Amino acid sequence: MAQTTTIPRLGLGTYGRTGPEGLDALLKAIEIGYRHLDTAQSYGTEENVGEAVKRSGLSRSELFVTTKVADTNLEATQFLPSVEKSLETLQLDHVDLLLIHWPSARDQVPFEVYMTGLAEAKARGWAKRIGVSNYPIADLERADPIVGKGEIETNQVEIHPYLQAPRLRDHARSKGLTLTAYMPLAKGKVSADPVLGEIAATHGVTAAAISLAFLMGEGHIVIPASGNTERLHDNFAARNVTLSADETDAIRALDRGERMINPEKSPKWDD
Ligand SMILES: NC(=O)c1ccc[n+]([C@@H]2O[C@H](COP(=O)([O-])OP(=O)(O)OC[C@H]3O[C@@H](n4cnc5c(N)ncnc54)[C@H](OP(=O)(O)O)[C@@H]3O)[C@@H](O)[C@H]2O)c1
Repeated sequence: MAQTTTIPRLGLGTYGRTGPEGLDALLKAIEIGYRHLDTAQSYGTEENVGEAVKRSGLSRSELFVTTKVADTNLEATQFLPSVEKSLETLQLDHVDLLLIHWPSARDQVPFEVYMTGLAEAKARGWAKRIGVSNYPIADLERADPIVGKGEIETNQVEIHPYLQAPRLRDHARSKGLTLTAYMPLAKGKVSADPVLGEIAATHGVTAAAISLAFLMGEGHIVIPASGNTERLHDNFAARNVTLSADETDAIRALDRGERMINPEKSPKWDD
């Protein structure tokens, strides 16, 4: 059985934030209080995340590190060596959460091969928890018999006020599975939203924080990215915002199925 989910509800995204500026953002975020860092083999940020963990002065157990196996490393011969390489780059002996970044397009790599690899990474102690990313309901259903019911701790997917993925959300709720909302600010677009802006003024926070508070209120984990100290603070403040039922309804009404990440390799989405 999976252990109790203790994934910090608000984490820091690192996509595209490489080099000294990326490291600086990580260090600032940790100083502010962020304890959940999201990286991936394909981001080129594992080294910075490892360095930030080392420089933070915090004990390893105080930080929650997620990485993702790239879709180019799903073959049986590559899967576990790629995880070992990630740990080496991160300078860690385990990650807290290991995800499959994308299911293999058109099952080019058989599903069972990499789901078995994922379970094996956990069995070896390289990952405390396992999960998936960009998985539609059909793939979640086929994962269970391979890795064991309840083993998948989260499905990291695009979710923001403009893409609320109600089918996937309701399925996750029915299974007790937590979704991690990537791109929770719709790449910053939410900050210009008048509905969010009005609610933000009432709470004395930014529209971005309202977006994050809404998503957390829906039961999701959020991983916004920023390289700016003030915005890192603004986003972190979302943890202390509780929205009323009317405010929540108003934000639910913003859903328009607007998907921003939809590469050719995407599975058939549910919403
Ligand atoms: N699993 C997957 O396939 C997948 C796909 C995409 C993303 N992700 C993960 O999700 C993380 C977040 O997604 P994302 O970085 O693409 O998008 P995001 O977090 O929705 O938006 C980040 C953008 O919003 C701006 N921003 C941040 N805080 C703001 C605020 N308070 N007010 C106004 N603008 C603000 C940032 O600019 P500044 O830096 O200038 O603040 C940046 O341009 C990624 O970093 C990655 O870790 C996963």
